[in-house]
Amino acid sequence: MNPFDSLGLRHDGRRLWVLDQTQLPDAEVWLDGSAPIAMVALIRRLAVRGAPLIGVAAAASLATFAEAGVSATEYAAACSALRGARPTAVNLMWAMDRMKGASDPVREAQAIFEEDVRLCEGMATHGAALIQDGEGILTHCNTGGLATAGIGTALGVIRRAFEQGKRIQVYADETRPLLQGGRLTAWELRKLGIPSTLITDSMAALLLRDGKVQRVLVGSDRVAANGDFANKVGTYGLAVQAKHHGVPFHPVAPFSTVDLACPDGAAIPIEERDPAEVRGYGSLRWAPEGMPAWNPSFDVTPVDLVTSLVLDRGVFSTADLNSGVLIRACGTGMK
Ligand code: MRU
Repeated sequence: MNPFDSLGLRHDGRRLWVLDQTQLPDAEVWLDGSAPIAMVALIRRLAVRGAPLIGVAAAASLATFAEAGVSATEYAAACSALRGARPTAVNLMWAMDRMKGASDPVREAQAIFEEDVRLCEGMATHGAALIQDGEGILTHCNTGGLATAGIGTALGVIRRAFEQGKRIQVYADETRPLLQGGRLTAWELRKLGIPSTLITDSMAALLLRDGKVQRVLVGSDRVAANGDFANKVGTYGLAVQAKHHGVPFHPVAPFSTVDLACPDGAAIPIEERDPAEVRGYGSLRWAPEGMPAWNPSFDVTPVDLVTSLVLDRGVFSTADLNSGVLIRACGTGMK
């Protein structure tokens, strides 16, 4: 493959490297993800994560595998293993379906990488136009350069508004249970110099009540045809709180996150992870050993809580979504 480089993914022309997101913000360690079997494990343990990035990384791993001269059977088995690495982010299935049918896997993976960079630019352009000077913006999980091949989804919009000179104040949910906000979004915001404050997820309602937040921007792992969408657990609660306080709430996603095969949110598969992630973090445990815990990794926000959806190809209101705009806007070039 030709070398490429993004915040969390690199190819040096020979091997594929991923920045181990489990070690951020304290250590920047790059791991070899060239072998699909290694990439499956990296995706499962969230060393590489974020809906668009797992699709791009899986495609690049498969292309690197193909370049090594594997058989069609080995290629198909690797493709299917990667496709099953995580269930909710449809970008992974979308990328693997493209790779499965590709006559030139290397070229296809390169195109998927480059396309994701462009999609981020589209979301940033459309989304930043919504943001007014002086706004407080609340965001959840990590949706930036670490989660995509480009500048991000929701965080890319925030970054673009900041680059346009808008004076914004970002509030980042730490994002329980895996702290993608506290570790990753905080790391990105500090690197970019964007004024920002970290909060625990349970503080968001107070911020909204106190008028500190004028807009909520979040990412998505899968958008159903009717506009319901899945995102990191806690997003649904934020949407309810935003509605209660009259604050605009926007998911931000590329078309590769739209799944027209899901008529509504009830059809989106939700990943459940190890309950140990709720009882503690890393080697630290705060709950009694063996305490039963529930750990859905995502939740579904119904479309009626959405003010508008920011896609790479435009901004769509609830009324647009209710009228089936996603089928018209994303009906070609989809799975
Ligand atoms: O479990 P994660 O960290 O992969 O979850 C990521 C999110 O929920 C993001 O908000 C999402 O992928 C969309 S934006 C890149």
